Amino acid sequence: MNASNMANLCSVVVAFAVLFVSTLATKYKPGDKVIVYVNKVGPYFNPHETYHYYQLPLCVPDQIEHKSLTLGEILDGDRMAVSKYEIAFKSDVATKELCQTQLKEAELHKLQDAIEDLYYFEFVIDDIPVRGFIGHLEEGGFLPHNHKIYLWTHLHFNVEYNGNQIIYANVSTKNKSPVSLEGVSAPFKVTFTYSVKWTETTTKYSDRGKRVRDSSFFPKTLEIHWLSIINSMVLVFLLIGFVIIIMTRVLKNDFAKNSEDDEDLMDEEENGWKIIHTDVFRFPPYKAFFCAILGVGSQFLATATGILLMAMLGMFNVHRHGSINTASILLYALTSCIAGYVASGMYRKMQGSYWVWCINLASALFAAPFFVVWSFVNSVAWAYGSTQALPWETVILLGCLWAFLGYPLTVIGGIFGKNWASNFDAPCRTKNIAREIPSVPWYRTTLAHCIVGGFLPFSAISVELYYIFATLWGREQYTLYGILFVVYAILLSVTASISVALTYFQLSVEDYRWWWRSIFSAGSTGIFVFLYSLFYYFKRSSMSGMLQTVEFFGYTLLTCYVFFLMLGTVAFFASLKFIRYIYVNIKMD
Ligand SMILES: *[C@@H]1O[C@H](CO)[C@@H](O)[C@H](O)[C@H]1NC(C)=O
Repeated sequence: MNASNMANLCSVVVAFAVLFVSTLATKYKPGDKVIVYVNKVGPYFNPHETYHYYQLPLCVPDQIEHKSLTLGEILDGDRMAVSKYEIAFKSDVATKELCQTQLKEAELHKLQDAIEDLYYFEFVIDDIPVRGFIGHLEEGGFLPHNHKIYLWTHLHFNVEYNGNQIIYANVSTKNKSPVSLEGVSAPFKVTFTYSVKWTETTTKYSDRGKRVRDSSFFPKTLEIHWLSIINSMVLVFLLIGFVIIIMTRVLKNDFAKNSEDDEDLMDEEENGWKIIHTDVFRFPPYKAFFCAILGVGSQFLATATGILLMAMLGMFNVHRHGSINTASILLYALTSCIAGYVASGMYRKMQGSYWVWCINLASALFAAPFFVVWSFVNSVAWAYGSTQALPWETVILLGCLWAFLGYPLTVIGGIFGKNWASNFDAPCRTKNIAREIPSVPWYRTTLAHCIVGGFLPFSAISVELYYIFATLWGREQYTLYGILFVVYAILLSVTASISVALTYFQLSVEDYRWWWRSIFSAGSTGIFVFLYSLFYYFKRSSMSGMLQTVEFFGYTLLTCYVFFLMLGTVAFFASLKFIRYIYVNIKMD
């Protein structure tokens, strides 16, 4: 126990150190060497298809010297190595030769293909990403159709500094005309050159994130449509208000009837839910699964809330994705105790007897599908030689994080949950013999409820989904986390109110199997999100190719699964609260 405690502590400390170390400022003296790292290359339209820069025959040194990276950078597909560019702080370079190469047949083809696929490259100078195109494609003219491939051979670096710190850097390729690669034969001689210009700026170091973001190489299409967001918020408030008003009126009516004519249960149509008071708290089948879903759902609710709060407090390095990945993984591991606690606590309340099985289910419910999808995606990435494939050290690190932190925390949470849980304390006694459930019209079936219960929460966030997808699957950096937090809150409240309404409708036709139904009817939002992702992939993005497709759909499926778990959990707890409330109030028996 002691050894594993130590291991837990160490991994947390290391991971947090890794998370924040990259934000330390570097100070330079004039003439100090500024290292230019080459990072990755890839097709412009496939954000998650990236390769190591030195896969292309572009001045590869004899001895490649890799930079050690943070976990977040590795997860983001970064693989940095030292380049041959020699830049010194505050000293301009007019034009200097980088290297001369004789391109062989295969290398020439590789470069031509890369330029055809609109490859861009990314360097990193003092933690600032610097991007440009490898070459230039010229297509034009109908007859004769020309198609020309050019390679940029000169890079001009602009670096801005304030005092002894670097504020901003970019690279332009157009200072010298490119070299045509059309119809040339190997061996083909190319000379690569570069130049550097330093400019003083008054921008402060603390504002450099903004400076870097504002002049991004990638186009900014994330104009925030305030109007549409306000529009959807108004709709949502109307919807929630509507549900609350209807429910209170209907219930008032129902309660009133109850006190007036106690024995006269003539209008069973409207009062169906009272009749089934001896069945409504009958525990559902597959308790362990049921509780595991609630456990993992609660865990993701905590993780998502935590990430959004951290992002709003500005804890992430905004011009690179990495730190969010790391924080998510850590939070997921740390919140495992919530999964164990909720799952086994609920299981105990439901008088389940295989709590070990329940805790194991809770720890595997997300981890197992994640592992399957990840292995598949990683194998494809590995086969393509992409830097999206994780190196084995990282895989072992992540495995250890789960084995020494995630899993033990689930078990510990589970033990507490089991020992602390009180009884279920149902307001009505459950009879031994279950009532027969009358058949219901089509609009009250599970399928109809799932469609309604999934579509409404989905439509509440559909406008914002574009931003979320564009952030996760594009180049855009979504920085208005405040709005995202509002959307998240809206999503949860819509889900809760819709599920309360649906549960009421279900009970009023004397169908008391609301437990699983509440999870599925709201969890089906995940299916709608997946349908949206199909639309996004084919109509709103320019992604293509096997690797990018596999990554997109693999991880999107997992995201939809998380939606299912989270919203199903919210829906169940909202319904439970509601049902307790109405049955406490009728005071039968
Ligand atoms: C690079 O930065 C300089 C200022 O340092 C600016 O004048 C120039 O337009 C930028 N070039 C590109 C391609 O963004």
